[in-house]
Amino acid sequence: MKIMAFTQISEEERDARVRKIIPKDHFTSINNSENRIVITGKGGTGKTTITATLSYLLKEKHHVLAVDADPQMNLPYAMGMDKNAAKKVVPLNMQVDYIEERTGARPGSGWGEFLSLNPDVSDVVNRFGIRIDDMMSILVMGTLHKSGIGCLCPENDLLDAVVRHISIRNDENILMDTEAGVEHFGRAIAKGFGHAIVVSDVTFNSVQVAASAMKLAWDLGIGGIHLVFNRVENNMDEIDELLNEINADFPYTVDMIPYDHNVKTVNPSVKHLMNEENSFLPAVKKLLTKIYPEIKKENYS
Ligand SMILES: Nc1ncnc2c1ncn2[C@@H]1O[C@H](COP(=O)(O)OP(=O)(O)OP(=O)(O)O)[C@@H](O)[C@H]1O
Ligand SMILES: [Mg+2]
Repeated sequence: MKIMAFTQISEEERDARVRKIIPKDHFTSINNSENRIVITGKGGTGKTTITATLSYLLKEKHHVLAVDADPQMNLPYAMGMDKNAAKKVVPLNMQVDYIEERTGARPGSGWGEFLSLNPDVSDVVNRFGIRIDDMMSILVMGTLHKSGIGCLCPENDLLDAVVRHISIRNDENILMDTEAGVEHFGRAIAKGFGHAIVVSDVTFNSVQVAASAMKLAWDLGIGGIHLVFNRVENNMDEIDELLNEINADFPYTVDMIPYDHNVKTVNPSVKHLMNEENSFLPAVKKLLTKIYPEIKKENYS
């Protein structure tokens, strides 16, 4: 088999290989949810790294709220929070006083007679959002129980309300990093999110997970579906074959981000990637301009 390296072929050729037919104006018709993005994909594919990098790029010109909806809670480290401070972050599902105040029931006490099913959480970002700097904050959710099949417990109720609340905030760009797999695409998450970035390795198993996440996201009404192959090396032909496995009957974009040892070197924080020569950053910028066509005009060079 012919082996082609990511860097051996031109950007145009890479695009031509993976071009999908996107109906004209599809992405401009996504309505007012276009500045809210959920990131998903199989475990270890690079979701957190990509979420943090997109946040850093966006915050050059826009307010960003990054939401960590992965129980492992490693987004704060990726966003460059001081390690000691990050260790002390209390996730929302552990804010028991707030949960009791808003839902009428204390976590662990059963679901109580007076559990409010639509708690007011409009102050949640002001109270619990952690400011990284003037342009960027992070909200750490903790374990988000699987929607629909979860218990009717107060912390679940609160997190669902928070996701609903986030879905209607208009004053910032929202990027939500989720746990591996697709379970977290409950209706609450999907509603109000205009884009899903689905990250995959160049492997059959990872693409299977990506394909089902893409379909679920589309079925839930997310209009902008973006498949991203991450850590691409000498395997362009494998990508061609894997794309044939997807068989989606809806439009989606495809991007490729190369393997770059600099990403490993700066781990856990992506902050240092912003100012150095590397092949990772230009590929993430390209993904960003595809999601936000108007950003192209703002010259993110
Ligand atoms: N393009 C890349 N080149 C080299 N290393 C990368 C690249 N993207 C991500 N990595 C590395 O891959 C590892 C996994 O990345 P990351 O933690 O972002 O994945 P994840 O999908 O969030 O994982 P999890 O499912 O555990 O949350 C990290 O060590 C990260 O530095
Ligand atoms: Mg992660």
